[in-house]
Amino acid sequence: MADPEQINADQRTFWKGQGGRTWVTRQEHTDITLAPVSEALLALAAARSGERVLDVGCGCGASTLDIARAVGRSGRVAALDISGPMLAEGQRRAEGAGIANVDWQEADPATAALGGYDLLVSNFGVMFFGDPVAAFAHMRSAARLGARMVFVCWRPVTENPWMKVPMDAVSAHLPPRPAAMSRSRSRLSIRGGAQPAEVSTSATRSGSAKANIPGACGTAFRPRAGGGCGSVDPNRRRQ
Ligand SMILES: C[S@@+](CC[C@H](N)C(=O)[O-])C[C@H]1O[C@@H](n2cnc3c(N)ncnc32)[C@H](O)[C@@H]1O
Repeated sequence: MADPEQINADQRTFWKGQGGRTWVTRQEHTDITLAPVSEALLALAAARSGERVLDVGCGCGASTLDIARAVGRSGRVAALDISGPMLAEGQRRAEGAGIANVDWQEADPATAALGGYDLLVSNFGVMFFGDPVAAFAHMRSAARLGARMVFVCWRPVTENPWMKVPMDAVSAHLPPRPAAMSRSRSRLSIRGGAQPAEVSTSATRSGSAKANIPGACGTAFRPRAGGGCGSVDPNRRRQ
């Protein structure tokens, strides 16, 4: 199994470099493609006026800007990402839209100093941690009593033919993929995706109460208080 530190290093290299630059170039197209899932995520998150929110792996701000509008001037969003180019694009878009209640930070939410949040959200940003359980535990420690966490991530690549077919077609002509991209599906990862049970296990082992994921890849938690959970399953929405 790949070393978690090596996975994190590979991810930083990818997202600060070519991965981040490509995403910035294609941001508008990607946001439109993922809009049905992002909209479901935002509906489930139901950010309220005045809330403090952490957006994990915010990228160019696909979810951040809508959440910033929802929490309003009395609320605040901490938008964390490891990709400088993507954060810069998010900040540029926020300024263009007159949104000023977002703190854009180049930081890893798995280890960064975090505040107390009412809501933690992620639009496909929780799939890359070297040690997912430790990362979820750290984020949970930054959740206020009764806070919610809602995220979306992909299920295994074998259940995503839109990803698998082109990857299989080109893999014979490309160098081997980095370990972080090709590890087994025992972790949340872009290559392996996540089985609902694995997401549930990571969230539950991190101490989240009632990580309830009915065939889906999203969760919510209420630390120390038990409570409701929700989920969004990008693979099942269009069936
Ligand atoms: C698939 S993109 C999604 C971006 C954005 N949430 C969106 O919906 O457009 C994944 C994002 O996660 C970020 N990321 C990867 N590993 C991360 C980590 N350990 N901490 C914070 N962000 C991370 C990447 O830089 C990238 O912006």
